Amino acid sequence: MNAELKKQFLIHEDIAFLNFDSFGACPKPIFEDYQKWQLELEQEPAQFIQVNGPTYLKQSREALAKYINCADANDLVYVTNPSYATNIIAKSLKLNPGDEILTTNLEYGVADKAWEYYCKKAGAKYVRQNITLPITTKEKFIEEFFAGLSPKTKLIFISEITSTTALKFPAKEICEMAKQKGIITFVDGAHTVGHIPLDLSQLKADIYTGACHKWMLTPKGSSFLYVKKEFQKLFDPLLVSWGYDAMFPTDSQFQDYHQMQGTRDFSAFLTIPKAIEFMNQNNWLEVAKESREMVQKNALRFCNLVGSKPLCPITDEWLGQMFSIPISTPEPEKLQRHLFVKYKIEIPVMRHGDKTYLRYSINAFNSQNDLDRLYDALKEIIETTDLITKK
Ligand SMILES: Cc1ncc(COP(=O)(O)O)c(C=O)c1O
Repeated sequence: MNAELKKQFLIHEDIAFLNFDSFGACPKPIFEDYQKWQLELEQEPAQFIQVNGPTYLKQSREALAKYINCADANDLVYVTNPSYATNIIAKSLKLNPGDEILTTNLEYGVADKAWEYYCKKAGAKYVRQNITLPITTKEKFIEEFFAGLSPKTKLIFISEITSTTALKFPAKEICEMAKQKGIITFVDGAHTVGHIPLDLSQLKADIYTGACHKWMLTPKGSSFLYVKKEFQKLFDPLLVSWGYDAMFPTDSQFQDYHQMQGTRDFSAFLTIPKAIEFMNQNNWLEVAKESREMVQKNALRFCNLVGSKPLCPITDEWLGQMFSIPISTPEPEKLQRHLFVKYKIEIPVMRHGDKTYLRYSINAFNSQNDLDRLYDALKEIIETTDLITKK
């Protein structure tokens, strides 16, 4: 893509980096902003943490709220990552024996673990409704999903874009239907912000978590949790700190409870305004569009190479800037390592249940050359090793 834009990233030149979706990658101007905050912190830690920090955090939250159309910035709190946010919710939600959490069988592993853990403790059930792959239509998806609903369903938990399968789910429709049925919704938007447009007011999820350190390009450990006002009192902080029974409470108990988390470096949270500025200056909607086109143009070519079928129609409805190729390999971890060590290609090979997926993601620094390198490497691996079994 744009060579000038590529130079803005810190990724090593010799790596074909097709794994943006796992941990993002921070461009230089945003990384410099991060270091600027960290320097200010170490130059006067007490002033930074106790005096100026809350104002800086508020300004950053306000910029994020505007970017994702959240009416009140106090309904957003910064957290380290979506796993943290999911744990806040799963731990505090008052679950009674027999209650059910409805989700799909395609969710992120940590989210599954957190929900399984707290459901088991309460004698509740985590219902992982099966979604048939390949996906055909939105209507079929919604019908299949809601077949898992029961009078005991307490909350719906669903990804907006899935991890291992890289599928865009119809989160908006699901939130709308759940609302009609009076069920709380929690959307896992770890892959959303900076990837596809997010409008929280339109989406109408009751609870939402997003990772800024992925597609929004900020340093690691910068994410957020949104909770609709009326539900905020339900959720305890994961770590009880000065914000509980605060000596000087602010106008938001949600902020007091979840923002104060002991001594920590919150510089990454403060880079959000810079990230938004960077995306605006570099025409990020166009970057995303070009990336999606590259994703889709190559999808079938890879499926044909490894002898598999795509998980969904190759359209914007189901795909963003990443694509998961179903692949058959006896040793996924060894295949991933081999691709990196021998070919310098960074790409995840992930297990999900009894399936394995090779997932490529495309961003501003990628070019067709990266995908051609992957294609040639996979072809050679098929021809010369038994690391990929072609069906
Ligand atoms: C769908 C989904 N949810 C949640 C997460 C958790 O992200 P983190 O490790 O930053 O908590 C991921 C990470 O890749 C993810 O793909």
